[in-house]
Amino acid sequence: MEFVRLLLVFLHLLGMGMLVAMFFLQLRAGSDAPLNKGWLHGGALQLLTGLALVALSPLTDKDYNHVKIGVKLLVLVVILGLAFVYVRKPAAPSWAPRALAGLVVLNVGVAVFWT
Ligand code: HEM
Repeated sequence: MEFVRLLLVFLHLLGMGMLVAMFFLQLRAGSDAPLNKGWLHGGALQLLTGLALVALSPLTDKDYNHVKIGVKLLVLVVILGLAFVYVRKPAAPSWAPRALAGLVVLNVGVAVFWT
């Protein structure tokens, strides 16, 4: 079971890397570009791996802080909501990539500093 947990953490960290990469791709694409679908894919990966880690916690002997998980989930719902709305528009507003990246960094901070 420990291997499954580590595999999920591995994918969870790759998902985080993907969201960070989306920010730089978005900068390169320019201000009149649509929002990259990768925001949705990276966010979905974070959601699935995060939920799986929590669901498996009785088997992996991990006791996660549920308030912390709730905050991370809420921040991710905002990320996915923004991505879902703006991925359909022909051009994303200039604040959207910065807001999304800020929320990703906020979740990394919550993950690391909230013990
Ligand atoms: C943008 C969204 C997210 C980012 C950037 C993110 C980032 C991270 C990072 C960097 C870690 C490693 C921290 C450490 O080991 O000290 C982590 C761990 C974890 N995350 Fe997330 N996370 C996100 C969303 C979520 C969501 C939505 C959930 C649950 C629904 C979740 C559940 C977890 C759990 C349970 C761990 C601990 C894994 C373990 O060490 O066993 N995460 N996250």
